[in-house]
Amino acid sequence: MCGIIGYTGSKNITDVLLKGLARLEYRGYDSAGVAVLKNKGIDVVKKQGKLCILEDELKRSPITGTAGIGHTRWATHGVPNDANAHPHRDYKEDVAIAHNGIIENYRELKQTLEKKGYGFKSETDSEVIAQLISAEYKGDLRFAVMAAAKQLKGSFAIAAIHRKEPERIVGIRKDSPLIIGLGVNENFLASDIPAVLEHTKNVVYLENNETVDMNRDSCVVYNDKDEPIEKKATKIDWNISQAEKSGYKHFMLKEIFEQPEVLKNILKKRVKNSDIVFEELKIEEDKLKKIKNVAIIACGTAYHAGLIGKYLIEKNARTPVWVDTSSEFRYRDPLVDKNSLVIVISQSGETADTLAALREAKQKGAIVLAICNVAGSSIAREADGVIYTYAGPEIAVASTKAYTAQLGVLYLFAQYLAVLRGVSDIAGTKRFLQKLKEVPALADRLLKQYQANENRMQKYAAKFHKYYLASNNKSCFLYLGRNINYPNALEGALKLKEISYISAEGYPAGEMKHGPIALIDENPWVICIAVNGETYEKMLSNIQEIKARGGIIIAIISEGNNDVRGKEAEYVIEIPKTDEIFSPLLVTLPLQLLAYHVAAEFGYDIDQPRNLAKSVTVE
Ligand code: G6P
Repeated sequence: MCGIIGYTGSKNITDVLLKGLARLEYRGYDSAGVAVLKNKGIDVVKKQGKLCILEDELKRSPITGTAGIGHTRWATHGVPNDANAHPHRDYKEDVAIAHNGIIENYRELKQTLEKKGYGFKSETDSEVIAQLISAEYKGDLRFAVMAAAKQLKGSFAIAAIHRKEPERIVGIRKDSPLIIGLGVNENFLASDIPAVLEHTKNVVYLENNETVDMNRDSCVVYNDKDEPIEKKATKIDWNISQAEKSGYKHFMLKEIFEQPEVLKNILKKRVKNSDIVFEELKIEEDKLKKIKNVAIIACGTAYHAGLIGKYLIEKNARTPVWVDTSSEFRYRDPLVDKNSLVIVISQSGETADTLAALREAKQKGAIVLAICNVAGSSIAREADGVIYTYAGPEIAVASTKAYTAQLGVLYLFAQYLAVLRGVSDIAGTKRFLQKLKEVPALADRLLKQYQANENRMQKYAAKFHKYYLASNNKSCFLYLGRNINYPNALEGALKLKEISYISAEGYPAGEMKHGPIALIDENPWVICIAVNGETYEKMLSNIQEIKARGGIIIAIISEGNNDVRGKEAEYVIEIPKTDEIFSPLLVTLPLQLLAYHVAAEFGYDIDQPRNLAKSVTVE
């Protein structure tokens, strides 16, 4: 939620800030702004709407300066408009700040400041930060920022500048991410790595309650006792092309097509001969051997990966698993203790509810393992151990490759646990890995067929669009799956909702008769995941029942299956044959593509769907 960038150096300041914001736009995109230090003053330009509106404004009236900060907003307090956009200034216009997070006690602080004559211009919680810093300023910005932060309740990452300190940026964080990018005669501050990747790969992660004080040729981090501390820089191995569209129309499409490579990469990194290796895991094998149960906690797409993880761990490692959304887990006094392994899954590693759930689990004595994509993120740092998914930066708001990568790790972890707990042996692992290693090539073939066949999913989407208009906007989607593909039904529906704004529900097909069958008439399009497997016959019965009631069926079937093609199913999508247990890795691909093409048919902004943000760092 909200992206922050800061730059001090000699490059074109607005250029650096705008490019950085473009890479952070996934965090929020309802307004954007920059504040630039120059000649003992601060120029602020901020605009409601997407970044391109701010860009146009800056082209019309360029500003230059020595250092500056920028912000892309996802509104929490106050509607998206120019006044509520960041950066915010104090009433004297001495200070400008960009903030990510929520200030819970802003009303009290505002009242106190207003009584002292501080005039406010916005409806945001963030403006109070600029005013507080200004009130605390006695000639040193760092002291003022630290003093102001001590009065704030809630979560924050803040970048601050002061008109009397022309090259200086001060940043501070608590429960919202902030990283430092170290350059030569220049330094950066940002919410996430892609914003600085074009300029540097040397990154320092700021921890909670740490403050960074930077200008172009120095950068010092202080702890909350105001002592300078040594921080080790991490060398980032992502490259800039991973954060660019590379010829694809949208990041989402690019990321869908990256999935075979992502899976291949995970297997290459994690499988050494026939051993599954998690170098950064840090949790002793002995402890994992003794656990009695597993809880998987996550939000959104990561939660759906967790649901598949349950099938995998229970099947392979014969250990009981329950799965919960982070927002439910954290508030219900969950039954986990030192005998529990709590796996938190998060692409960003910054999701506020998942971070809080992790803390709750730790407090109860559970062993906490994070499955994370962003190295050094809060969740990765606070967990007892971590397994990185190595999917590279995921920019599209709708998650695709991060999901597959989470699944890839869960397959390996389930088998790793199976061996540790004596449920499987080396031969079993060999067989499992052999099959798993075939999947990236199958996924690649499936995606290439889709490209060559330009393009079945687009045709289905175009037909749906027509149908939708003819039905007076009544058409919707129902996704049905069983067994290990049931979570894919939820994920398919989520993808469609996120980017097409069309009502879509995912259901276990066995529950049809307990409610959803009432929805069936000529309107819903029913996606039936009917690949070969234990419950295939049952799925066929569901398909018959839907057909008998006039539903329109798109069946996802295994290659070569002719049971429903041209009969009950209006449309079929074939996926390469594989053992049922590995099929979720393939089934998800056409579901993602279908969502993509439906959104494209409706002409929506695929990478930046309305109301959503990629990283939900507020509750
Ligand atoms: C947001 C994103 C989803 C994501 C979820 C969890 O809702 O839009 O794509 O699945 O957060 O994010 P995380 O970073 O914890 O995986």
